[in-house]
Amino acid sequence: VKLLLYLCSPEDNIYNVSFSRFKIRDLDSGAVILDIKKHGPTEIQDVIELDTRRFIQYHFSPAFLALRAIGATLEFTVGSKALHHFRLIERHFFRNLLLKTFDFEIGFCIPHSRNTCEHIYCLPNIEPEIVEEMIASPFETRSDSFYFVNNKLIMHHKAEYSFRGSV
Ligand SMILES: *[C@@H]1O[C@H](CO)[C@@H](O)[C@H](O)[C@H]1NC(C)=O
Repeated sequence: VKLLLYLCSPEDNIYNVSFSRFKIRDLDSGAVILDIKKHGPTEIQDVIELDTRRFIQYHFSPAFLALRAIGATLEFTVGSKALHHFRLIERHFFRNLLLKTFDFEIGFCIPHSRNTCEHIYCLPNIEPEIVEEMIASPFETRSDSFYFVNNKLIMHHKAEYSFRGSV
């Protein structure tokens, strides 16, 4: 049994921010690595309720760790209140080692809107020995995503990563 600690509750998402699509592409080749949609025929893996699930496991190939930069496209809808200073701070760890922190300012979103933004992640240079350990240790690479509106935490999502190939 795994205990996951979240720094806020699902009820703190008072703006009803709801994710409808998440896409990852390799910036160098343009190849799409992952495309998760909440609705629609191309829904993949076991990821169904993107907005209510706060925890997700990703299966990537070892080659993922050799990429230089990826673009992550996020599509989301907003409830009846505008979002001011919507911001995402993401921390990636291998075990207790902090790999990198990302800080993305999404900005202002109007009420009842559907928004798309792409964030560029320059992947950190990781020691080859650590990369080998990451590949050999599925789901010991983790991330925390903190979403803020007006400096207040409204969502905390967690992810775990395997780099041993798709299931
Ligand atoms: C969020 O959804 C709830 C339930 O549907 C609704 O009562 C509330 O007014 C919504 N809030 C916003 C900001 O859209």
